[in-house]
Amino acid sequence: MDYQHNLAQEFLEFVEQQPRQSLTQLLSRVLRKSRMLTGAEAGTIFIVRRKRSGAYLQAVNAQNDRIRVNASDFEVPVSNKTISGYVGGTGETVIIDDVYHIDAAKPYSFNPAYEAKNYKSITMLCFPLKNYTNHIIGVAQLINRLGPGGTIIPFDPHMAAIVGPVARVVGTSIERTDMMDQIRHKNKVLQNRNRQLADQRSHIGALQEQTEEAFLLSVGLLARAAEIHDEGTGNHIVRTNEYSFFIAQHLGMPKEFCDEIHYSAQLHDVGKMSVDQAVLKKKGRLDDLERAEMDRHTTYGHQILCDSPRLQLAAEIALSHHEKWAGTGYPNGLGGADIPVSARIVQVADIYDALRSERPYKAGFSHEKAMDIILNGDDRLDPREHFDPRVIELFADTHLGFAKIWDELKDPPGAAPA
Ligand SMILES: [Fe+2]
Ligand SMILES: [Fe+2]
Repeated sequence: MDYQHNLAQEFLEFVEQQPRQSLTQLLSRVLRKSRMLTGAEAGTIFIVRRKRSGAYLQAVNAQNDRIRVNASDFEVPVSNKTISGYVGGTGETVIIDDVYHIDAAKPYSFNPAYEAKNYKSITMLCFPLKNYTNHIIGVAQLINRLGPGGTIIPFDPHMAAIVGPVARVVGTSIERTDMMDQIRHKNKVLQNRNRQLADQRSHIGALQEQTEEAFLLSVGLLARAAEIHDEGTGNHIVRTNEYSFFIAQHLGMPKEFCDEIHYSAQLHDVGKMSVDQAVLKKKGRLDDLERAEMDRHTTYGHQILCDSPRLQLAAEIALSHHEKWAGTGYPNGLGGADIPVSARIVQVADIYDALRSERPYKAGFSHEKAMDIILNGDDRLDPREHFDPRVIELFADTHLGFAKIWDELKDPPGAAPA
């Protein structure tokens, strides 16, 4: 009894020595300690694993003092056929004096296929490792107990009696360590997955950026294409974007609106693509019918743009940028706040730029002259009739910002329309 107690005590202390050891380390030490205590020359330690086809024993550590052995992942099904499989299935401890001459009445037999090369097993002690709930979680197989002078002797039946409680202490520790290993493994898998997800997210982000770039490019090209049909106004469309963005920001419009008007403003005259070419190119005065066709560039533009969800603001601007605050504009004679704010913004941007630009029939005006016309009017333009007073007030306060945009984006000499 004393012997038994000491052995159990020794095992326990041994197992608890290094609580943070990995399963492989722990099993290797358990096997070494078992072999030392029993005098076994060799041994293998298995862990019970489960897959869909059933339970099996996975060899996780093998030791042999005489030859080199490698436990790397050989598997034994849990069944009565093999010794370890029998122990793993029944939980019985088995002592065999000669594995090549096992009593035929026993269900199991020794499978020489599992024998290490150049080695012969004779005596064997095979016992289950159980956890506290008495579940078999592994099998220890000790081979060839060495007696005096290196002779091989049978394992002591007393040892079989004591391995039960010892095996349980060890088994629980193994189970705990195995669980820690699996948690560590799962964590690693999760970390990898998270890393993959992060990669995918940045990939999608890049794709979205590319799509956005392609979209903005197409919108810019559409605006340029429309210009070719018009008087060819150089950077007019780009500057209109910038003034409109500038006004929207200073009016305190939401960021999404500002971003959208920043690319939508340039499309205000896109409908000119659809205007009768003869009318569009006519020099001199237009008669009433021709004027009506020309004015239709607003509705044509709206038709071109209104199908795209991303171009709703552009469609609204194209339709309404010739409406006037007094309700005297076209195509719908809207007045005041009935005119979309986007169109009220683009109107001021468009006219400031037209005043600054050189045209076949006029020189470009200075900033001061353009500002004077917008704020005080001339024979063709009455600001109180034309513009949203709030936008004009803002223009008066921030007109230098308009001058700056003109200076930065003005057409290079010679690029002015013929
Ligand atoms: Fe227009
Ligand atoms: Fe314009």
